Amino acid sequence: MSKINTIEDIDYAGKRVYLRVDYNVVENGKIIDEFRIKQSLPTINKLLASKCSIILASHNGRPDGKPDEMLSLRPVAQALSNLLNKKVGFVDDCVGEEVSQEAHSMKAGELLLLENLRFHEAEEKNNSLFAKSMANLADVYIDDAFANAHRAHASMVGVPKYLPHAAGLLMEKEYNNLNNLLLSPKRPFVAIVGGAKISTKIEVLKSLLKKADTVFIGGAMANTFLQAQGYNIGASMTEVDSIDIAKDVMKIAKDNNVNLILPKDLVVAKSIEDGVDCRTVSIDNIQKDDIALDIGKETMRDLIPIIKKAKTIFWNGTLGYAEINEFAWASKDLAHLMSLRKNKADTIIGGGDTTAFIEKLGMHNRFSFVSTGGGASLELLSGKKLAAIEALRS
Ligand code: 3PG
Repeated sequence: MSKINTIEDIDYAGKRVYLRVDYNVVENGKIIDEFRIKQSLPTINKLLASKCSIILASHNGRPDGKPDEMLSLRPVAQALSNLLNKKVGFVDDCVGEEVSQEAHSMKAGELLLLENLRFHEAEEKNNSLFAKSMANLADVYIDDAFANAHRAHASMVGVPKYLPHAAGLLMEKEYNNLNNLLLSPKRPFVAIVGGAKISTKIEVLKSLLKKADTVFIGGAMANTFLQAQGYNIGASMTEVDSIDIAKDVMKIAKDNNVNLILPKDLVVAKSIEDGVDCRTVSIDNIQKDDIALDIGKETMRDLIPIIKKAKTIFWNGTLGYAEINEFAWASKDLAHLMSLRKNKADTIIGGGDTTAFIEKLGMHNRFSFVSTGGGASLELLSGKKLAAIEALRS
């Protein structure tokens, strides 16, 4: 199979670049998180240093192929301009006469952000005429939108068909860091998987069970595993339909000799709200009206020696109902434990919610790598090929 092109494989200096980024960060007309914008800066700066002009393109939200002012990328142009300390132009569309004129009159070092690609249904349909008209705007195509790499949309897989193409610095870093977890992790390799539903994590769990030495399961997902083991989990969230999947996962762990750790104590409350009374109970002591909302201290204490010995630590999915402070304790504790290992182990964080949690704690610089990807990182770690990465092969 041919290799995935990196920037150095194509002739980009002084060219007009179509740079696909993932600025899926605007909700109700406001930027909710600048992490993805900041992560696109290294590629932008490299292109600017090489006297390129840069046409930035991204989707935002799911506008169903129609313009929606609340999902416009306009606020991103200002945010990016503040971060670069440089003017970033903006056009109200991503194709058409006006866009073409703007793009073709750009000078070296200029930046132009196009409007939300998904305002055209042709984007998600991977329409080839739409892709071709975007390709006509530029000389080369660079893809830095790792978080969207699992989508076979026009800007991801169509445009690179018509232009010399390569992965940007972020795409390359994401791919290498996450792929390395599957190919050659340093051992011992500990994977910590949380979040609400097994159904969304089953593929990644199965894949990690073939690679990791220890897999720890937290979040509401752990309730289904405990139920599969016969524990009464009270009024906790569970997926009854996934009990057999949980049993299957436990069997795979056993067959692969993987140390599968489930919580042995949990923080429970009678309702899910700020300031609610909560207590820590062992898993065989959960009352009928208890809702499990975080991992208990005994369980976290057991994790300490495992994390201290690990050479690779991967975390996806918060361990409790981390939106509420009372139930964010175990996730904060894990973030802290992992950050202490930064220079001794590969510490990698993936998944939209976990990345947002880390960003909220202001800790994103305290790990070896924090992925911008949600669904894309899960698909890559499940061993699937990502359509947009495949489109970057030479
Ligand atoms: C993401 O935020 O995971 C990506 O931008 C993909 O967005 P989508 O799930 O709307 O395709």
